[in-house]
Amino acid sequence: MALDALPEVVKTERRDSVLVVTIANPPVNALGVDVRRGLVAAINAAEADGTVAAVLIVGAGRNFIAGADIREFGKPPQLPSLPEVCQRIENCSKPVLAAIHGAALGGGLEIALAAHYRLAVAGARLGLPEVQLGLLPGAGGTQRAPRLIGAKAALDLILSGRHVAPKEALALGLIDRLGEGTDALPEGLAYAQELVDAKAPVRRTRDAAALADRDAQRTALEAARADTAKKSRGLFSPMKIVEAVAAAIDLPFDEGMALERQLFLQCVASPQRAGLIHAFFAEREVLKAPETKAAKPRPIEACGIIGGGTMGAGIAVAMLDAGLPVTMIERDEPSLARGRAHVEKVYDGLVQKGRMTTEGKASVMARFSGATSYGALAQADLVVEAVFEEMAVKKAVFAELDRVCKPGAVLATNTSYLDIDEIAAGISRPGDVLGLHFFSPANIMKLLEIVVPAQVSADVVATGFELAKKLKKTPVRAGVCDGFIGNRILAVYRQAADHMMEGGASPYQIDQALRDFGYPMGPFQVSDLAGGDIGWATRKRRAAARDPKAPVPRYVQIADRICERGWFGQKTGRGYYLYPEGARTGTPDPEVMAIIEAERRRAGITPRSFSDEEILRRYLAAMINEGANVVQQRIALRPLDVDVTFLYGYGFPRHRGGPMHYADSVGLATVLADIREFAKEDPLFWQPSPLLVELVERGADFASLNQSE
Ligand code: CAA
Ligand code: NAI
Repeated sequence: MALDALPEVVKTERRDSVLVVTIANPPVNALGVDVRRGLVAAINAAEADGTVAAVLIVGAGRNFIAGADIREFGKPPQLPSLPEVCQRIENCSKPVLAAIHGAALGGGLEIALAAHYRLAVAGARLGLPEVQLGLLPGAGGTQRAPRLIGAKAALDLILSGRHVAPKEALALGLIDRLGEGTDALPEGLAYAQELVDAKAPVRRTRDAAALADRDAQRTALEAARADTAKKSRGLFSPMKIVEAVAAAIDLPFDEGMALERQLFLQCVASPQRAGLIHAFFAEREVLKAPETKAAKPRPIEACGIIGGGTMGAGIAVAMLDAGLPVTMIERDEPSLARGRAHVEKVYDGLVQKGRMTTEGKASVMARFSGATSYGALAQADLVVEAVFEEMAVKKAVFAELDRVCKPGAVLATNTSYLDIDEIAAGISRPGDVLGLHFFSPANIMKLLEIVVPAQVSADVVATGFELAKKLKKTPVRAGVCDGFIGNRILAVYRQAADHMMEGGASPYQIDQALRDFGYPMGPFQVSDLAGGDIGWATRKRRAAARDPKAPVPRYVQIADRICERGWFGQKTGRGYYLYPEGARTGTPDPEVMAIIEAERRRAGITPRSFSDEEILRRYLAAMINEGANVVQQRIALRPLDVDVTFLYGYGFPRHRGGPMHYADSVGLATVLADIREFAKEDPLFWQPSPLLVELVERGADFASLNQSE
């Protein structure tokens, strides 16, 4: 192929005797079909040109190559395949050098491994993160990496998917040289010229010798196999990775490559791959809210927090960790001292574990100040209120903020359930009022619901997204309603769980069924961890607010009976489970089972058995149905926003993609049929969402609603 006919995404240029091949496929130089074709054409051109002595591969823009084009997975394959491209590079009769800057991930690193020499400059990140997408490195990574760095190091890289910096890559033997500057092109050219001058040979990774000591390799492999069996929690690709690396140890290169291909295709076909790739794109799509497109965020340089309890202290830590100065307001000096102590406790824990020095703690705490008077917030750019969950208290706090904060300050509430429109309407600047709903523990949990009241300005919403970025959180835009996206849906499927408990399933069986599905904990374990008192207070508030004329929904009183005994979960030593002597993992409690049986009798219910499968179907159908309502009512912009909420805030197993993606994979008609079946016994609870019905009638799925606005 003539050079000028190469696709634009791969450019070639002669620099003396070196052919520089530049991959220029924005945004991240993913290895789409045009790039693959271009690379093969470039290597062919280098072979054909007697005046070319070496080839240098570099990436344009911020990265070398971010990997295969993830959007192509699951679509009909187009040739040349990535393994073929790598093989063409490795087989080149002239030395090929990869000069890496930014990301060299997945297929990107595999291209570099197929080259004969590798250099990386400062800031580069090298890794084989395919496991995070339900895959394994499918272009020779499982065969070349072990030959280059040994089975133990290769298994660690591939099973963790972690990124390594150039220094570590050099120590491992993954690269040959560290660049002195940060610009890969001149560093690469200088190295290539050296190779030409020294008449350096082609050096194929397939022939590299790091696997020579077979016994040591097999020992490492068996250790990784045992560890993976223990830790991979139902994930499909980690064991396939172990099998592929075993082939690198035991089989000739070409046979290993063939096996890697087979295992890779099995992973591609797995629903886990589809779930994990959905999650990858969904967590990027959530950033594209209408307001982030329409407006620029306001500057955030100084923050305020009202309330130093569980949430206020956690939010303060999240902000301090992001390098922001924080002023905390409490009602009185003793409460302020407690708030400060909550914040310090987090850093003391880090110091104790050796993850922070005392000086480090002191320098963080130097950015923290406290006050009992609101005047201290005069210069704050953004304030988050986290006081008691009572409308009157919140309104009083917002009146103070209205009085003291500078014009343009963003005034946010962390309320879980209260009407933010009402809070905003109570002050003179409703356009500045936003919901920022953090999850407990706020310095750890990644989800941040950005709740958008009716009167808020677009730039205030954009500022919420900007704060999430600074705090390294995943933001999801939500509308105002009781519980927003997450807690509103949670309230419904928790009821489904309670109905099953009253109907005959034990809380322990329900928790186990959900752990088997992939949750780290079941709903009753979560309740014990969070503290049963919180839900109890909410139920009482809701009962008081209930319209007496509305039909009475089924109400399970088991949780109330448990709370009435003061059993609030881990913090009181018992809840649904027993936690003897502060144990973190609970054991089933016969007295709780006795309470449940008494409640069944009181409600006139004859218990029946539930299969684990039925438990899952009911629990997830309740979640999906309310998810559809939330989308239909525009509380969530798209189904994917519901998915990200549940992946990041509620422990939904990532490889299942989130409840809405999961519903698509099961089939919406099946979910609707289940709901109609369940409705035969409880039509008030099981009302099919109009959106679900409409999608089934149209033969459409939730994915069809995921297009960005
Ligand atoms: N394929 C297709 N699109 C990709 C992509 C990929 N491999 N990697 C990133 N993108 C897209 C993102 O979706 C995003 O698109 P939008 O702007 O439309 O939302 C855009 O590129 C920019 O990505 P980020 O917002 O993530 O940019 P960043 O600068 O924060 O991070 C990055 C850059 C570190 C490379 C990050 O994007 C990343 O980790 N990408 C995925 C890397 C990966 O998993 N590679 C392995 C692929 S699988 C593989 O290679 C299999 C194989 O062996 C054959
Ligand atoms: P908490 O009871 O632990 O803390 C509340 C703090 O606010 C107390 O320290 C109290 O002294 C202080 N406070 C009360 N009135 C005040 C006032 N007028 N001025 C200054 N300080 C005042 O409560 P928690 O759990 O931190 O909850 C706070 C808010 O966060 C609530 O709105 C709650 O719904 C919400 N939330 C709670 C979550 C949780 O898991 N605990 C999760 C997400 C949101």
